[in-house]
Amino acid sequence: MEDRGNKEVQNEHRVCNDEEEIVCLDESFFIDDNYQLTEFTFGSQHIDLFCLHSASTDFDLTGQLVWPGAMLMNDYLSKNVEMFQGCSVIELGSGVGITGILCHRFCNKVVLTDHNEEVLKIIKKNIELHSCPENISPTSQGLEAEKLEWGNTDQINEILQKHHGGFDFVLGADISFQQSSIPLLFDSVRQLLQVKEGRKCKFILAYVSRTKMMDSMIVSEASKFQMQMKEVPGTKCIVGNLEGVIFEITLN
Ligand SMILES: C[S@@+](CC[C@H](N)C(=O)[O-])C[C@H]1O[C@@H](n2cnc3c(N)ncnc32)[C@H](O)[C@@H]1O
Repeated sequence: MEDRGNKEVQNEHRVCNDEEEIVCLDESFFIDDNYQLTEFTFGSQHIDLFCLHSASTDFDLTGQLVWPGAMLMNDYLSKNVEMFQGCSVIELGSGVGITGILCHRFCNKVVLTDHNEEVLKIIKKNIELHSCPENISPTSQGLEAEKLEWGNTDQINEILQKHHGGFDFVLGADISFQQSSIPLLFDSVRQLLQVKEGRKCKFILAYVSRTKMMDSMIVSEASKFQMQMKEVPGTKCIVGNLEGVIFEITLN
C-alpha cells in the first residue's frame, strides 16, 4: 500500500517513455525570491528597498531588478519634485516599485502596476516597507499596487473606476524593450491619457536605447496612437553604458 503511494507521488514529477525520462519541475523551482534590502540615492533622496541584484530565472521576472531606466527616471523625479507635487500618478511596469515609491514622497496618490504576479508580491512588500508616516507627505492619499497587463482594457477600467478623474501623470521606466508589447503599451497609455480633461495628463517615459529598431518603433507607435513625443531637454545621458533619455508624451 505504502509502495503504491510512493509510486504515485513519483509519477507527478517524472514522465517516462521508452527513450527518455523527463523530470517536471514546479514553477517555483526557477523563482529566486531572495531579495536584498538595498539603498539607492537620487540627489537628496535616499530610498531602501528589496530587490534582486541579478536575474537568474527562466521566467519573465525582469521586474525583480532595478533597471537603468529607473535610475534615469528617479534622477529626473528628484530634480523636478515641484512638477509632481500634489499630483496623481500611475506607473506602468513598476518592477520592484522604486519609481512609484519615490514619487509618492511628493505626490498625492500613486498607483504602481505590473502584469507579473511574482513582481506584484515584491512591489507590495516594498510598499509595506515605505508605508511609515515619515516617508510620505501629510496630504498623501495613498500608495497602492494593481495588476495591469498592457492592452487589458478590463483591468484599466477597474483601476479607473477606483480613480475616476484619471491621473495627472503616467510614468514608465525601462518598459519598452520587447517589440510585441509596444502597441499594447501605447494602447494602454492612450486610454489613460484621454481620461483626464483638457488633455492635461502626460506620459513620462524613461527610455533606454538598446536597439535601433526599438528607437524607431516607439516613435512610430506614438504617432500611430496620435501622440506627440518630445525629448525633455538636458535629460540625454549614459545609464548603465547605454544612452537614455526622458520623453514627455501627450495626446495630439
Ligand atoms: C525591464 S523591467 C523595468 C522595471 C522597472 N520599471 C525598472 O525600471 O526597474 C519591465 C517591467 O515591465 C513589466 N512588464 C513587461 N511586460 C508587461 C506587460 N505586457 N504588461 C505589464 N507589465 C509588463 C515587467 O514585469 C517588469 O516589471
